[in-house]
Amino acid sequence: MALLPILEYPDPRLHTVAKPVQEVDDRIRQLVTDMAETMYDAPGVGLAATQVNVHERVVVIDVSEEANDLLVLINPEITWYSDEHQVFEEGCLSVPGVYDKVERAAEIKVRALNVDGEPFEFHADGLLAVCVQHELDHLLGKVFVEYLSPLKRDRIRTRLRKQQREAQKQAV
Ligand code: NI
Repeated sequence: MALLPILEYPDPRLHTVAKPVQEVDDRIRQLVTDMAETMYDAPGVGLAATQVNVHERVVVIDVSEEANDLLVLINPEITWYSDEHQVFEEGCLSVPGVYDKVERAAEIKVRALNVDGEPFEFHADGLLAVCVQHELDHLLGKVFVEYLSPLKRDRIRTRLRKQQREAQKQAV
């Protein structure tokens, strides 16, 4: 078990496109364990491997109130999007302190592999649908602030760079 460092926007590595997992083996299961521990510790409701600088299609999610219902998605794909949309105020462990409204499909269908490498499918709506779409964007190298206006994004980038510089100074 290990907590993994989370990349923070505007780190260019967050824009890496993840590759499919070739085999769901012990290395991937260890990654899943570490990612789940990192997500719960943060705390957050979702984490994509991209955010811990591993560029393979692995996501962990837990939108339950008690944080005791871990969903692991390996090589996930969204196979259907509803025409209906919903707007949610999103945040991201890679963009600390920033929350803003993003419009996404209200319902989706998802196909993925579990930690045993077995395929499964599910239907998602509400927060889970938001979270899956947000995390799958990470695997494509996309951070939610890219849905915001260029002006907002520039402000966020400037603010986070400043925060990161101050944190570095304190660490020295
Ligand atoms: Ni995120």
